[in-house]
Amino acid sequence: MIIAIDGPSGVGKGTLAKLLAKKTGYEYLDTGALYRAVTLYMIEKGIDCDDKDSIINQITNISDNELLKLTANPKIREEEVSINVSKIAVYQEVRDFLYDFQVNFSKNPKGAILDGRDIGTVICPDADIKLFITASPQVRALRRHKENKEKGLESDYQEVFRQLKARDERDASRNIAPCKPADGAIIIDTSNLSREQVLEKAMKIIKNKS
Ligand code: CDP
Repeated sequence: MIIAIDGPSGVGKGTLAKLLAKKTGYEYLDTGALYRAVTLYMIEKGIDCDDKDSIINQITNISDNELLKLTANPKIREEEVSINVSKIAVYQEVRDFLYDFQVNFSKNPKGAILDGRDIGTVICPDADIKLFITASPQVRALRRHKENKEKGLESDYQEVFRQLKARDERDASRNIAPCKPADGAIIIDTSNLSREQVLEKAMKIIKNKS
């Protein structure tokens, strides 16, 4: 069983995916963390994320082990990575590099849940269940802002909103693997729903399918 969960930034995909993994026992992959890991790797090497040639030159030097290690590094959540990640995510070579890792993960016999931007469209077009999670940009920015404050990070709502819109625009308008609902995806708007309500909706969809 493969569950593909896509949607824009700050929409609660990760929260939902983790709760679903707990309920179902399927393995969970946060694919955004892979893109963030590559971004951190480049930043630490002193490579500018707008410098496509250098990124492409370096990317194949990253081993699967190193990639996994980087995904566990808390630095991947820091602002510098958040600002740069959608720049490197537009390069086809970066997406190709991460493709096999994601497809292999999706074949886990225990069942797999992957969240990202292109899981239902590119990585797992034959997923058993495809969910596209949305919420208004205001709601998403407010959630991110609250999350930052809870983590004790400095946060300015207007700035969070501006960055989120900029990333949305880059992710949705790129030619390669843009963030959009896959064919057959079920859209869940979480603007007015609690975590529990979103989980309940998703579990109903899964039960109906299995
Ligand atoms: O933290 P947030 O939910 O905002 O984003 P994320 O899931 O950590 O993903 C970070 C960035 O990686 C996105 O803004 C996309 O540019 C890129 N990404 C992608 O292109 N394809 C994916 N499957 C996952 C992430």
